[in-house]
Amino acid sequence: MSRIAVVTGANKGIGYAIVKDLCREFDGVVYLTSRNEERGQAAVNKLKKDGFNPKFHQLDITDDSSVERFREYLKETHGGLDVLVNNGGISFMFDAPETFPQRVAETLRVNYFGLLRICKALFPLLRPHSRVVQVSSSVGHLCKIQGAELKARLASRELTEEELTQMMRNFVDAAAMNTHKEAGWPNSSYTVSKVGVSALSRIQQRAFDKDPREDIVVNAVHPGSVITDMSGKLGTMTPERGAQAPLYLALLPKYTEIKGEYVWHDNTVMDWVNGEVKTFRPDSPNLY
Ligand SMILES: NC(=O)c1ccc[n+]([C@@H]2O[C@H](COP(=O)([O-])OP(=O)(O)OC[C@H]3O[C@@H](n4cnc5c(N)ncnc54)[C@H](OP(=O)(O)O)[C@@H]3O)[C@@H](O)[C@H]2O)c1
Repeated sequence: MSRIAVVTGANKGIGYAIVKDLCREFDGVVYLTSRNEERGQAAVNKLKKDGFNPKFHQLDITDDSSVERFREYLKETHGGLDVLVNNGGISFMFDAPETFPQRVAETLRVNYFGLLRICKALFPLLRPHSRVVQVSSSVGHLCKIQGAELKARLASRELTEEELTQMMRNFVDAAAMNTHKEAGWPNSSYTVSKVGVSALSRIQQRAFDKDPREDIVVNAVHPGSVITDMSGKLGTMTPERGAQAPLYLALLPKYTEIKGEYVWHDNTVMDWVNGEVKTFRPDSPNLY
């Protein structure tokens, strides 16, 4: 039976580069998924021209029926899944016309709730020794949250997925009423969405540790400051370089000790609870 890898939001940017690397290094079938059929097929065709052979499937992480179709397809065609890279995401440009509450609702809808939807749908298909990579960000580090109470709750080993998800909903509601800052949240929808993703990975690993399926591992990763559409092409690294740490985590060997961690783009395991993120040049465009 073939091993199966899936990357979300892979028609461009870091996701596309991760697919390319997996085609080279993963011993199995690689799925490039995209919410838009045409853009996804075009990306697959481009890779085929370069000698790679990914498969394509449509997948919009915000759409229940799209996710359900993909889950059924995977189940029927392959019976399971071995590598899942949750890469798809959005970030509003600074000059976007949307109001702050609109940005918050949409960013959380895609980056947190969309990713969670994929996990709920596909985790039951994961086989023993599966690797899950949650693409977070430098701003997905806990140090980006100011409120002491929020920080303590997010860091708690007792935090459940339901409680975390309710905290994300509370942020959306607080942003709509402009009370998010007094509640201890930062003034950035993207930051909260990625802190949510990092916190979720820790909770998910605790569940995998008790799972009868052996050695399933999930980690969150900051891929670096990468030159993509999302960063307005202002990053410092190529998408190929940005794919490096996600690839490393997707291919972690059997019985790895690196699990439930927050990993930097140079593959260093960071202290998410008590540490700080590595500093950037003050003029760096790194906000992602
Ligand atoms: N670039 C950076 O410096 C940086 C730094 C830290 C973290 N990240 C993270 O890295 C990941 C990839 O970002 P990138 O820089 O490569 O951005 P990008 O070039 O804008 O690519 C984002 C991808 O996500 C897809 N996507 C958006 N909404 C989706 C949905 N509802 N369902 C499925 N796919 C969806 C996009 O599809 P469309 O083409 O259809 O829009 C696109 O393929 C993101 O999670 C981002 O937050 C990036």
